[in-house]
Amino acid sequence: MTVERRKLEHIDIISTQDVSHDYNYWDDIDIIQKSMPEVNFDEINTSTKFLGKKLKLPILISSMTGGHPDTKKINENLARGAAEAGIAMGVGSERAAIQNREMGDSYSVVAEYDVPFRIANIGAPQLIKQDKNALSDLEIEYAVSLIKADALAVHFNFVQELSQPEGDRNSKGIKKRVGDLSKKYKIIAKETGAGFSTQDSLEFKQLGVSAIDVGGRSGTSFAAVESLRSRSKEDEPKERIGKTFWNWGIPSPICLICDDVELPMIASGGIRTGLDVFRGLAMGASLGGLASTFLKAAIQSDKAVSILISQLENELKAAMFLTGCSNLNDIKKVRKIYRGRLLEWTKQI
Ligand SMILES: Cc1cc2nc3c(=O)[nH]c(=O)nc-3n(C[C@H](O)[C@H](O)[C@H](O)COP(=O)(O)O)c2cc1C
Repeated sequence: MTVERRKLEHIDIISTQDVSHDYNYWDDIDIIQKSMPEVNFDEINTSTKFLGKKLKLPILISSMTGGHPDTKKINENLARGAAEAGIAMGVGSERAAIQNREMGDSYSVVAEYDVPFRIANIGAPQLIKQDKNALSDLEIEYAVSLIKADALAVHFNFVQELSQPEGDRNSKGIKKRVGDLSKKYKIIAKETGAGFSTQDSLEFKQLGVSAIDVGGRSGTSFAAVESLRSRSKEDEPKERIGKTFWNWGIPSPICLICDDVELPMIASGGIRTGLDVFRGLAMGASLGGLASTFLKAAIQSDKAVSILISQLENELKAAMFLTGCSNLNDIKKVRKIYRGRLLEWTKQI
């Protein structure tokens, strides 16, 4: 199974089947509104700075794809929308281009657009020796320069690796490598659905990473995705692991409580609306990141991506208006009520 083929299978499964975690914890956050907001909707300011770069909206198109010729159009649609709206964007794992440079343009197309913050992407498992050698410093530099990146996301996805027919299982030495890379690049430590604990985040801070993308449980479950892939390959043990760990992980909003170690945080995992972005910001995040929601739009067209971004903007502004927030700083002061399963978690962490 080539990396390129796997990328297409992910897109196919995620865009056509339900591979979400069984519960979306963002729905457990209610917000106390103001009936006399003293704000004019059209004067609301949603601009922000993230790691030194200006964005018009606190929104990130989370890392997804590249690595197969068919993914170029998806990245192009996303990049056009991101540039037009002034939001940040990541590309998917760049291992495919590192292994096969002919795949480079499915990622580098993003650099042809004026995206205000571009995020390169590599997997933590590829930073250490598996049955293949670890990525070299030169290969990583290639991944960063390929999209003229402002930061490099290192994604942690060990639940996925364990449920994947061809998954990597070595992890010893990962901390040293992340520490070394943090001396050279702005590193964003990124989970992909299982979330980071306080211990993880404190260690990332010590290692010198620049930001934390919490990637918690509430949205796309890669254990689920791999379980379905394993089923189609009649790999029963892996199918079963994916099923067993389908709902593994720390809920995304809980991560924002745990991971608050005075580094910028990105709220992600299950964010679907501008109201969810608002909820993430109210819990201390600097940006809200969405993946699968953007994927479905990008498969359609660049126009669908632009429409989605303006819907997210409208919803974010509506929540700001209804809580009397004229800028993003005001959102931190908004009162939140936790209920349901989220409340249960807050009592025990
Ligand atoms: C099709 C697809 C491919 C993905 N590939 C990557 C990847 O290569 N690298 C990465 O860091 N995250 C990857 N992700 C994970 C997302 O960036 C995100 O962390 C996760 O999907 C949770 O967000 P969501 O609930 O909004 O989908 C991918 C997600 C999707 C939907």
